[in-house]
Parts: sequence; structure tokens; C-alpha cells
Amino acid sequence: MAEMQYHVELVNICKSFGGVRACRNVNFRVKAGEIHALVGENGAGKSTLMKILSGAYAKDSGDIYIGGQKVNINSPKDGLSLGISVIYQEFALVGSLTVAENIFIDQLSEKGRLINWRRLRERASSALESLGFGSIPVDKAVSELSVAHRQVVEICKALARDASVLILDEPTSVLASGEAGQLFRLLRSLRDKGVTIIYISHRLEEIFKLCDRITVMKDGCHVGTYKTAELDEKELVSLMIGRTLESYFPARKPKIGETVMKLENISSGKTVKNVSFEVRRGEVLGITGLVGAGRTEAMRAVFGADPLDGGRVILNGRQVRFKTPERAVKHGIGMLPEDRKAHGVLLEMPIRTNITLTRLKSFTGPLKIINRKKETRYIEDLVKRLSIKAASIEDNVSSLSGGNQQKVAIAKLLASDCRILILDEPTRGVDVGAKIEIYNIINDLVANGFAVILISSEMAEIIGMCDRAVVMKDGSVAGILDKNELTEENLIKYSMGVN
Ligand SMILES: Nc1ncnc2c1ncn2[C@@H]1O[C@H](COP(=O)(O)OP(=O)(O)OP(=O)(O)O)[C@@H](O)[C@H]1O
Ligand SMILES: [Mg+2]
Repeated sequence: MAEMQYHVELVNICKSFGGVRACRNVNFRVKAGEIHALVGENGAGKSTLMKILSGAYAKDSGDIYIGGQKVNINSPKDGLSLGISVIYQEFALVGSLTVAENIFIDQLSEKGRLINWRRLRERASSALESLGFGSIPVDKAVSELSVAHRQVVEICKALARDASVLILDEPTSVLASGEAGQLFRLLRSLRDKGVTIIYISHRLEEIFKLCDRITVMKDGCHVGTYKTAELDEKELVSLMIGRTLESYFPARKPKIGETVMKLENISSGKTVKNVSFEVRRGEVLGITGLVGAGRTEAMRAVFGADPLDGGRVILNGRQVRFKTPERAVKHGIGMLPEDRKAHGVLLEMPIRTNITLTRLKSFTGPLKIINRKKETRYIEDLVKRLSIKAASIEDNVSSLSGGNQQKVAIAKLLASDCRILILDEPTRGVDVGAKIEIYNIINDLVANGFAVILISSEMAEIIGMCDRAVVMKDGSVAGILDKNELTEENLIKYSMGVN
């Protein structure tokens, strides 16, 4: 029998995709008015479970209770009418419409109804105001807002639909650390007003700061539910990965050589101004700063993905200029893009094709026939190293969990034979086990004479991994810090410009 104390109860939920058992008899109970974290490794089944709750996926078996009542949720519409709203990473807003129109979009699409535009704007204003974001202009097109503000609009839209259960699936992966703080304040105030919040994240720090209770999933199963106060980070990690961990950042003795790439006064568009720094053989060079500081844009311009409007790129002593990313790759520079869904992987292609597309030559024998066995061995080795979770390397990338899609993008880059690697937020959205795996791979690469440029918003990652770090602010270099200067305090100082 369901207990009333719980707002949401999922009982014995099962869901398979072909041979993959994404949820196996999962029990998940959330109290009214709590912030409940749902954690687990990539592919553990978190998103699937939430898609079942919201009506995006049909469950194979099991029961759902809302407020103690057994319910049928067969479509997202059913979920919405029960007050369940999901805020996805890829927001469901219409960029060309205004903030107000997005918030009340359901009413705009109702047929044959006259819209009182002034009233709509007023209601949107007061809705945003009540969330503490009265400064967001309701007449602006959503496409002109920052990502953080788009997220607020999305939450506001959910509340306008009378959401009482708010599900956030990795909401901070698109935010900078300062912006995450704002989101947390908003979520706490919603909790205090009685909204039940389910929070999925791989950032454990956040979970300890924000959540009241934590449910851990592993391999489609419910491992346990705990009060946050009962656990520490180490214990949580071992529950998630099923083993204990020594340290987050594997030790490395840097062997730094000559300068391999030098940037002189790079500028691009309006966002990148006079950026200069160099990167050396065997070095992990961090690039950090607030979101919008121009980190990604600067490196995209060097890589040939965006126009390089000024300045020089000097590669091994010779000036170069790449018109396209393909040219950069030919010269041994590879980049893992930030937006991996758009640029990193071919979603509707198998893992095999994604990884080896760029290096088919190395598997081709004298008769120009691809040696499939050799290719398969190579791919399987990478898949194992990155612990990519998939039933088979013939599966399409679109069938993988979010984190595993990212790992395929990394595998693809590693297969490209580049010696200078630009990694834009490589651990965003990947679980702790895989994160450490990625750190190990970076360490291996630099030990073998590669140069790695690591763009990251996570201060701990910059401090733990980098030999030096460039801090950017407003499109320019605010400072270049040596290993011994890499402290949280310094990073904040330079990225905020309080020097
Ligand atoms: N539409 C789908 N088709 C086929 N398999 C799927 C589909 N959606 C999920 N899966 C599989 O179900 C399993 C669970 O995936 P899910 O997306 O729920 O994981 P997750 O815990 O959200 O992981 P992540 O942290 O990487 O986002 C994975 O093995 C995934 O490949
Ligand atoms: Mg997921």
C-alpha cells in the first residue's frame, strides 16, 4: 500500500530497450516538498526512470502513485496534468518567441481564444518577479537570453502549468559556477513553497549543498535512498561505482618540453580580443573563466571552426591559419567540441563508424580492404578504456545515455591521431568513474608528449589537472597562472576581475 507521506512513488518499475534492461524493479519514493537527488553512473537508468514518470516513455511494468493515488501516465500530457514537469538540458523553449509568450505558450496555442497581450506580459512579469528574476525582460526573444536565464524561463513555464513536481536532468551542466548558485537559491525557495524537486546531477558537491535525500541507481537497479546528512562524498561515490576510490585526480610527474603552439593577439568576432598564450609539449594547459568569457570562442577560432579575425597562430615555429577544422586536424590539432550533440558525434551512426571514420586508412590492407578484425579490436579497446556502456559497437550513438554519447566523442578524437588536443569541458555530464578515467587518459597523453588544452568551468578540475591555466574574462586573458598559483581564490579573483 502506498503511504501518503510520499508525493511521488514509483514501485517495481521495469523498462527494457531491446536487450538493455534500463530499469529493473526500481522503487523510488520522493516526499512532498523535498529536493531529492537521483544519482548513478552513466547509463544507470536515471533519465529513463524520469521519462517514465513524466510520460515520455511507457514502462514495461510497475506502478506509479501520486499523492497516494495510483495513476496512469501514458503520455507527457498525462504527466503535465498530474503536475509533473521536466526541465531538460536541451530546453524546450521557442527561441524566436518572447519570454512572456514562452511562459504561457499553452494558452497561445489554444484555438479560438483572444489573447490579451498586455495581461500576458504582466502575468509573465509578476511570475518572474515571484521567482526573484524580475530583471528578465518579458518582451525579449528567448534566443537573446543567457542560458541561465533561459533555464529560469523554462522553470517559470513549468510553474505556470501548475507543476508540483519539478524534475531537473543535469541542469547545471550548461551553467557557470556563479549561475548555479542562483539556480540553487531558486530551487530552495520553490521547495519551501511546497514544490517537490527531483534533481539529477553528476556534480556531487552540488548534491551535498542542495539536496535533502539521495537515491543511488546502478545498472538499472535501485541501490538505496539516504539522507544527505548520513553520507559523505566518498561513501556516495563508492555506492555509485561499487568500489572505493583513492583520489579524484591521479598523480602525474609533468615532463614539459618545447612550445608547440603559440597564439599571438588572437581575435574573433565580438567575443575574443587579443588573446595570447602558448602551450608546450607534455603540458596540460587549462583555460577557465566564467561562461561567456570567450574560452570556447577563442579556441574555435584557432581550430578553424570560427573565423580568425586577427592575430597569429604559430605551430612548431611556423605561422599557420586553418580555414576549416579539417585543415587543423591535418596539422595535428584536434578539438572535442562543447556541444557534442551538434558537432561531436553522428547520432544516427553506429559507435564503430563514429570512432574510426577519421582513421580508416590505418585499418586498410594492401588491397585497400578494411581489416575489420583489426578495426574491431581497436574500437573495443577504446570502448573498454573509456568504459562506454553499450550492448554492441554496432549500436547507434543515439541509443546511448547522455554521458556515454560524450565518451564516444572523446574516443573519436583519440582515434584521430592529433598531437595537440583541445578538450572543451570533457567531463561535463560524465560520471565520477569515467571522469577519473578521462583524467588518466589526459595524463597518459601528456606523458607521451601530447599537449592538452583543457577548457573547464570546474575549478577543482583546473587545479587538480593543469600545469598552468589561462583565466579569461570578457574575451581577453585576465591572467596566466602557474601550477603553484592555481588556487580557488586566484581563479575567482582573475575570472571576476577583482584584482
Ligand atoms: N531510446 C533508447 N533506446 C535504446 N536504449 C536506450 C534508450 N534510452 C536509454 N537507453 C539505454 O538505457 C540505459 C539507461 O540510460 P539512461 O539514459 O536512463 O541513463 P542515465 O542514468 O540517464 O545516464 P547518464 O548519466 O549518462 O545520462 C542505457 O544503457 C541506454 O543506452
Ligand atoms: Mg541521463
